[in-house]
Amino acid sequence: MTRQDILVTAMPLQHDLLRQLCDGRFHSGEALARQFGVTRTAIWKACKAITRNFDLRIDAVNGRGYRLPEAVELLDKSAIESAMQTSQENIDVHTLLSVDSTNRHVMDLAAQGEASGTAVFAEYQRAGRGRRGRTWVSPFGGNLYFSLLWRFTQPVADLPGLGLAVGVALVRVLRKLGISGLELKWPNDVLCQRRKLAGVLIELQGEMSGPYAVVIGIGLNVRMSSTAKQEIDQSWIDLATAGEVAVSRNQLAALLLDETVAVLQVFTEQGLAPFVDEWRECDRFRDQDVELHLADQVIRGIARGIDEHGALLLEQQQQLKRYYSGDMRLRGMEV
Ligand code: BTN
Repeated sequence: MTRQDILVTAMPLQHDLLRQLCDGRFHSGEALARQFGVTRTAIWKACKAITRNFDLRIDAVNGRGYRLPEAVELLDKSAIESAMQTSQENIDVHTLLSVDSTNRHVMDLAAQGEASGTAVFAEYQRAGRGRRGRTWVSPFGGNLYFSLLWRFTQPVADLPGLGLAVGVALVRVLRKLGISGLELKWPNDVLCQRRKLAGVLIELQGEMSGPYAVVIGIGLNVRMSSTAKQEIDQSWIDLATAGEVAVSRNQLAALLLDETVAVLQVFTEQGLAPFVDEWRECDRFRDQDVELHLADQVIRGIARGIDEHGALLLEQQQQLKRYYSGDMRLRGMEV
């Protein structure tokens, strides 16, 4: 093995090569080797490493070369920034090819003192995190995964309701795109045609009584890859199935970021109140027999919507009780 071959197992070549292959066209090993200044063996090895590290298939055809089965429109910092309405001074966009979890990454940045408004998008999450310790299946290049760091300098009313406000932000964006059949499942799942289209994971750093940082993680199914489809254990849908969406992934990223920031600015000043009516209007389970799954018990009742702070109201023996966490299901349904 040449020194070059050893060096190519390093990530930069894999990343450059992957970016090149995202055009979906065939590239000969020879041309790629020339372009990146390495041997053809090194290119072959890097392709192998990409399939492993990004859980991707690369077509390798004699006489034609390598290609990804489908072209991917990569997320691009300047494309997102130029499509955004929010002032660039307040928001710092980063795009990564791969990360374990954008939420985990941004939590680290928060601990290192990174500024409020740092937004990280990734093409692929090796260990995407869902609510209640679940995995968020995050195949390469099809969906949107992003986390936004937001610092609150003083205690904010209704912080536990923040996820509900972010759910409203998602519904607003999706409606602008012409998607119909949208509902919210408490606390913040976005459903379309009764299947999960997007999820929100809020993580907190600092003291509730003082300045603290919040990481708002959003996963939106845009176009789910066929291999990932089999890994998801909930009833789900992606935008490609939900309707014709006439915007690019970069534009969609900008729309999402704009709306999330707008909602956060209002939430910081006024809490959940300005979003409660919109949330209630989309409530999937209003007046239905439901089960609330907590860590160690299942509570049954009739869902009576949310209170003004975002708590779930469950009617049990003619009494209304408030709940602040848990997983909702229609009574007797598996998911
Ligand atoms: C849920 O379980 O519904 C919440 C899913 C949140 C997924 C997003 S994807 C971007 C961000 N990074 C993560 O690891 N999780 C969130």
